[in-house]
Amino acid sequence: MQSANFTANIHERGFRSPFEKVKATSETLVSTDGRNLRSLNGDWHFIEDWYETALRASWCFEDSHGEPADFDWDFWPVTKVPSVWNLTKPELKYFEGLGCYMRTFDQPKTDGRLFLQFEGASYRTYVFLNHHYLGMHDGGSTPFTLEITDAVQEKENRLMVCVDGRRDPERVPMDNTDWFLYSGLYRDVFLFETPKSYLSDWYVRLLPDKAHIALDFSVEGSSEGSAVFSIPELGVNQKVPFREGKGNAVVEARPELWDIATPRLYHVSLAYGEDVLSDQIGFRTIRVEGTKVLLNDKPIFLKGISCHEDYPEGGKRSTESDRLQSIKDAQELGAVFMRLAHYPHSREMARLADKMGMLLWEEIPVYWAIDFQSESTYQDAENQLKELIRRDKNRASVVIWSVGNENEDTDARLSFMRRLAKTAKSDDPSRLVSAACLVNQRKLAIEDRLMTYLDVIGNNEYYGWYDPDFAKLPRILANSHLDKPVVITEFGGGARFGNHGGEEEMWTEEYQKRLYEKQFAMQRSCPFIQGCTPWILYDFRTPRRMNRHQGGFNRKGLIDSDHKRKKLAWQVVHDFYHGV
Ligand code: GCU
Repeated sequence: MQSANFTANIHERGFRSPFEKVKATSETLVSTDGRNLRSLNGDWHFIEDWYETALRASWCFEDSHGEPADFDWDFWPVTKVPSVWNLTKPELKYFEGLGCYMRTFDQPKTDGRLFLQFEGASYRTYVFLNHHYLGMHDGGSTPFTLEITDAVQEKENRLMVCVDGRRDPERVPMDNTDWFLYSGLYRDVFLFETPKSYLSDWYVRLLPDKAHIALDFSVEGSSEGSAVFSIPELGVNQKVPFREGKGNAVVEARPELWDIATPRLYHVSLAYGEDVLSDQIGFRTIRVEGTKVLLNDKPIFLKGISCHEDYPEGGKRSTESDRLQSIKDAQELGAVFMRLAHYPHSREMARLADKMGMLLWEEIPVYWAIDFQSESTYQDAENQLKELIRRDKNRASVVIWSVGNENEDTDARLSFMRRLAKTAKSDDPSRLVSAACLVNQRKLAIEDRLMTYLDVIGNNEYYGWYDPDFAKLPRILANSHLDKPVVITEFGGGARFGNHGGEEEMWTEEYQKRLYEKQFAMQRSCPFIQGCTPWILYDFRTPRRMNRHQGGFNRKGLIDSDHKRKKLAWQVVHDFYHGV
């Protein structure tokens, strides 16, 4: 029973829970492939709401309950969407509260269905339209869709989006990461329309026999009917029935294979009534055989490089030229494989990699000491994994789903990540599942109970940096008896660009260069190592790195944080990858 002087927007501690009942998840994510997307990017009003008053005191319903209003949405300053608020003005660099965004838009009447699509907002997002609460989304790097058909009006729609950027030990990632956890509406916001019945998801892939293409799709708004599946250049134009909203087919086709040197893409479409999904899709196979990784049934050494989504100007907000430059920089290095660490990068990265012939490792941020005991944390992690797979499963470039990075080998973690690995396999049987594991220090071997559930073993080792005793590395490799491919997913060392000295002097470019020379000499000798993604292409922002050489950046990049100036070690990787 509330006391006589109870005032909800002051005393109500459970103010978030009413909003937590309506969630956008992988199940409500609608495919936007080939759709006519109306951009809602541009100028939005924005205020930093340190105490989450927008939720406590109903700012998003613009109801001040008869008191003088504390909100002023149309008066608040303007910020650009997409952007991370941390880089929009100096006083917001370390702001970790609720960012409140608002814009208006008109929407002509339609007898179809209308949706909002958010490509990425970090971390928790609450969406209101014309004072109706539409729902929330958890996860800072995956897209989500909200239907607005019943809440939209013709003129002056008021769209309010509150983004909660707090770090939290229960979240995925949790509150301690070696990268800057940017916040905000940092990827595209779209509005799109569909007919009353529409295609919500589709999955197109080449079967291992390389002579058949499989299609699975979902329809919302009709339980049965048929869709038309077309790949004109392959003579595919097939009517495919669906029941209870689900349809599938296997068609005979022998496409020219997508490969690194020949990234062949085909125009593919699926039409149901007025609704059409279309995309440029590449067809290839990926599998493991013993300790080998086979692309189109040919063994491949995954000459790779790791990279964060952290750009000089926009931070986690990337532009087309940012993404193009990072793939070009990887290709110049001689890489054919990029580890997009430690969370899903922009969907446009995989589209570009499809066009440019770059293989990708994509990862969800189950990073370090996640709350492996918490079921809600598990649901959050699994939903992000399912959203990532649903978003990118038609991308030929994506060959590995990673379920995490550098987690202690405990029973709780094994149970948590085994479930994730099985989910990845069941949602997408066509790709490989991995995780970046740590060396078993007691046995001095690459050994981790999670490996049983992985197709490819990722291993992070920093001999020559965190452990100066380089002599351990050959012992570890000799102690490791593995019947699966291993990718050394991280090794490297820090160097401040332009800091020169002896090979024994840490933080010099010469030290980093020597470390790489010794690492490659060792890795060459190990038959089960089938690739590596050295840490890392570019220096990147992180609040954990504050010595005189770092100044808030992790300096293990082969290229400086300006994404331009190459360090001496860059040449070592280049020469190794070019077989010099
Ligand atoms: C770890 C971790 C990275 C981190 C790196 C480092 O392996 O996976 O996220 O940045 O080491 O220490 O530089």
